[in-house]
Amino acid sequence: MLITDISRMRETVKSLKKEGKSIGFVPTMGYLHEGHVSLIRCSRKDNDITVVSIFVNPIQFGKNEDLDRYPRDLERDIEICKREGVDYLFYPDVRQMYPEGYSTYVVVEGLTEGLCGAFRPGHFKGVTTVVMKLFNIVQPDRAYFGKKDYQQYVVIKKMVEDLNMDVQIIGCPIIREEDGLAMSSRNKYLSPEERESALSLSRALFTAKEIFEKGETDPEKIKQKMRQIIQSYPHIRDIQYIEIVDPKTLQPKKRVEKGDVIALAVYVGDTRLIDNITL
Ligand code: PAJ
Repeated sequence: MLITDISRMRETVKSLKKEGKSIGFVPTMGYLHEGHVSLIRCSRKDNDITVVSIFVNPIQFGKNEDLDRYPRDLERDIEICKREGVDYLFYPDVRQMYPEGYSTYVVVEGLTEGLCGAFRPGHFKGVTTVVMKLFNIVQPDRAYFGKKDYQQYVVIKKMVEDLNMDVQIIGCPIIREEDGLAMSSRNKYLSPEERESALSLSRALFTAKEIFEKGETDPEKIKQKMRQIIQSYPHIRDIQYIEIVDPKTLQPKKRVEKGDVIALAVYVGDTRLIDNITL
């Protein structure tokens, strides 16, 4: 059932809680794909009720980013939610979420400074603020995040821990296309040729994992090989970063160990893609 009003969502949640129902929550920006669907399925398994939100959150986009052209297809998203047995689809508008004079933000320090945070100033402040607002409205018992956005997942976990919030954060595996490309709403921006080049990200990550498993523990050597692979493809406009980090602190490693995360952000044409792998 589609709910567009914050007050209506709150009332619904209140009566569900009274009935003792557990609530699972999947926050999204819509244009749903199999990655989102995997989160919905996890939530449906664990909870009595599953709420999905679709809100293209303007405050997590930088000035020159893709807010205006972010893909949207509400009709299709509604169909997917119906098919997947989602109980409530929360779809608030920007004016309700950020009325005139809005002035309160949530900031997680430290973890947001590296990786994507270094290239997208203010991005995580926008993410934590909207997720906090959505949590306050939906009051979920469990919330589901994809490890596709690994830094986002760690940052949200930290926010919940630091602010003693009563919600369990569950991280779910990255869903990929058959050829390895991590699913993303932004893949829609890619031309057919760029789509080929976008494969360089997952290929570099898979190769890195193989090299590590054969015994290489020098992060510079692994990163150099990855650069080489990615740059061998056309349409690679910029490799923003390739980092091998501790999975909890997100600090770069001097020696690579099992459990570390290799994360990267690459511009393929005008499209910024991210991906990562856990060793
Ligand atoms: P969005 O990019 O729509 O992603 C919503 C959720 O789906 C996130 O938890 C994301 O990690 C997960 N996801 C996306 N692609 C995935 C894939 N290929 N495999 C597994 N999970 C995947 O992330 C956001 O929206 C926003 O920042 C949001 C958290 C909703 C706050 O605005």
